[in-house]
Amino acid sequence: MKILGIETSCDETAAAIVEGKKVGTQNFVSVQSNVVSSQIEIHKKYGGVVPEVAAREHVLNILPVVNEALEKADLTPRPPLLGRRGGAKGRGIDVIAVTVGPGLITSLMVGVETAKILSYVWNIPLVGVNHIEGHIYANFVSVNSKFQIPNSKQIQNSKSQISNIKFPALILTVSGGHTMLVLMAGHGKYKIIGETRDDAAGEAFDKAAKLLGVGYPGGPAIAAYAAKSKVKSQKSKVSLPRPMINSNDYDFSFSGLKTALLYKLKKDKIWKKKIPEYCAEFQQAVIDVLIAKTVKAVRDFKVKTIMLSGGVAANQELRRQMKEKIEVLIPDLKYTTDNAAMIATAGYFHALKKDFIPWQKIKVDPNLELSARG
Ligand code: KG4
Ligand code: ZN
Repeated sequence: MKILGIETSCDETAAAIVEGKKVGTQNFVSVQSNVVSSQIEIHKKYGGVVPEVAAREHVLNILPVVNEALEKADLTPRPPLLGRRGGAKGRGIDVIAVTVGPGLITSLMVGVETAKILSYVWNIPLVGVNHIEGHIYANFVSVNSKFQIPNSKQIQNSKSQISNIKFPALILTVSGGHTMLVLMAGHGKYKIIGETRDDAAGEAFDKAAKLLGVGYPGGPAIAAYAAKSKVKSQKSKVSLPRPMINSNDYDFSFSGLKTALLYKLKKDKIWKKKIPEYCAEFQQAVIDVLIAKTVKAVRDFKVKTIMLSGGVAANQELRRQMKEKIEVLIPDLKYTTDNAAMIATAGYFHALKKDFIPWQKIKVDPNLELSARG
């Protein structure tokens, strides 16, 4: 089954083709193409995403991005070839998966309208994907490139991540918009056991980066400075709180951490000389809390797999330190920040359950909850 994924929930215009196959009892997903057109350069000058500008860029980019994804997957973007029965070799797209929420409404609408039109003219079924669910499914990508159908022996020998995923699973999903600990009982079955009470982890990185004047987006900028930190003496050591680290729940809070940083900077006349140290300590404070709460959840719930997902999962220190503490599956770097391969992968599992939505009925929901059907 070939799925075209479309993602426009925030500031990345993305399209991807994945191929899903069931071999024996296992599902394999291979990414045939994964195109992301980033708007970072455009939003940089504003220090954040401007919704109206983002939507306009999506409108300009969406068809070229879809077209590129089709071409890279050797699919000719012409209707006769893309009909359900495909071209001569039956290599057409079978399903279109699109992010329906949560996100910026005007950004989401561009992707959903495009998916709707393609579904209509190509006569292909549609599935709606929750963006956070998409991040989770970045862990279900099994092969990074076009693949041959594995035979059963190859499957036995396969080290692919997907075969390691067993339910119930626990997922720490950390992005610019969300920070959650999710229990996943099976495909499409989620229970949020903890979440941030204020800012998301990525949002905290972005706000801290603004305070420190290190650039946009904040996560990668802080990580780059943090890597340069050399704490030489106790005098140059900066210390920030670890909010809610010992609270008896699985929730998070990051807005106080940002405020603590603000007060420290106000008091410190030479903070500009210690930017790497501030970045390292801020990053470590976030990592400590994320890991502590994940470890607590692992202790309290009987889970068979632990996974990390979302844009903040691109953070190398978080990846390294989490792996040190627990056995955790982490997506390939390119599937951590917003992309459409993860949406198409989630779409594959929806399609297996025939969760199709007629184009007349698909709607965006900027506040879509994870447990609600996309
Ligand atoms: O998942 P994502 O691409 O978009 C949302 O769904 O929000 O996540 C973007 C967030 C931003 O806040 C960005 O600063 C953060 O992920 N991020 C990082 C890193 N790369 C991206 N945070 C920490 N370290 C990174 N290397
Ligand atoms: Zn995202």
